[in-house]
Amino acid sequence: MRDGAVMVTGGAGYIGSHAVLALLDAGWRVVVVDNLVTGFDWAVDRRARLVVANVADDEKVRDAIREHGVTAIMHFAGSVVVPESVSDPLKYYRNNTAASRSLIESAVSEGVKHFIFSSTAATYGVPEVVPVREDSPQLPINPYGMSKLMTEHMLRDVAAAHPLNFAALRYFNVAGADPQGRSGQSTAGATHLIKIAAEAATGKRGHVSVFGTDFATRDGTGVRDYIHVSDLAAAHVDALDLLLAEPGKSHFLNAGYGRGYSVLEVLDAVDRVTNMKIERRMEGRRAGDPDELVSDNRAILEALPWRPKYDDLDRIVTDALSWERHLASRQ
Ligand SMILES: NC(=O)c1ccc[n+]([C@@H]2O[C@H](COP(=O)([O-])OP(=O)(O)OC[C@H]3O[C@@H](n4cnc5c(N)ncnc54)[C@H](O)[C@@H]3O)[C@@H](O)[C@H]2O)c1
Repeated sequence: MRDGAVMVTGGAGYIGSHAVLALLDAGWRVVVVDNLVTGFDWAVDRRARLVVANVADDEKVRDAIREHGVTAIMHFAGSVVVPESVSDPLKYYRNNTAASRSLIESAVSEGVKHFIFSSTAATYGVPEVVPVREDSPQLPINPYGMSKLMTEHMLRDVAAAHPLNFAALRYFNVAGADPQGRSGQSTAGATHLIKIAAEAATGKRGHVSVFGTDFATRDGTGVRDYIHVSDLAAAHVDALDLLLAEPGKSHFLNAGYGRGYSVLEVLDAVDRVTNMKIERRMEGRRAGDPDELVSDNRAILEALPWRPKYDDLDRIVTDALSWERHLASRQ
């Protein structure tokens, strides 16, 4: 067992629940803070403690930090639907930016010295150069990306003023599910391609829409860098070790495989894995979708001992499908 505990905000959600598993498997004590607005209490492994609270609830968060001897925070909690951020920007500035500000303040006031933040490739907007490096211009094109970028800036400023270091991991497209079947993406109304395709494969929906067939890519559909959620969770555990080893240093790191697949390639993989032909409906582009969004991941590979274990599209699809079948069997 390691010294201290890790607070995982959003630990009842998709990525957070996998980080909880990775931390527990690595010997950490874990306390989850989640208000269950999109997460599920059953998604939190029983070995962790769950505090049902908003991360902006200073009293509950600070009590939990003290009670459990929290030495590091992994902050996954937030609102994640890009189109909703366009129609309701203040929700995103409240639940992502302002709530993160409260949480960071709680960390500083309680003497928590290490902070890992779920940032996003959406902070880059439409990148001019792909693969995207961490020092590329960050020009978000929606309030979601901006709400996350503002939190990155807060962390940088706070780390310069207080004894706290951080890692902001900029996730690319997260997909798949725990290979042992312990967690997966359970949120209704998903907007992620592989989740939607898995829902189509299990009969939850009739078709998959392909938004845009005239992108400047090899087959005209958008290219994205899909990272297996368990690899991403493992990167967080390694990032925490790095923060502990080098207290004065903070990091902005892309979290991706550095390789992209088009929408059609992803759907081909789903057809291959399921031995089915999922119906595809070609539709117009959505506003602001870049042609290609692929990480340059050399920095994370250099900074961490982390090496992806599931860097294989069919593997990602297989695990997403297993989870979707599991969800279907629960109903
Ligand atoms: N899924 C992706 O591809 C992706 C890509 C880039 C970044 N991210 C970031 O990763 C993080 C996790 O995303 P996810 O896909 O797991 O989403 P999710 O909706 O499954 O998980 C978010 C969790 O946070 C909780 N939550 C939300 N607001 C809260 C608050 N104010 N206080 C306490 N709990 C709160 C929800 O109940 C939920 O359990 C988010 O910060 C998101 O911006 C996700």
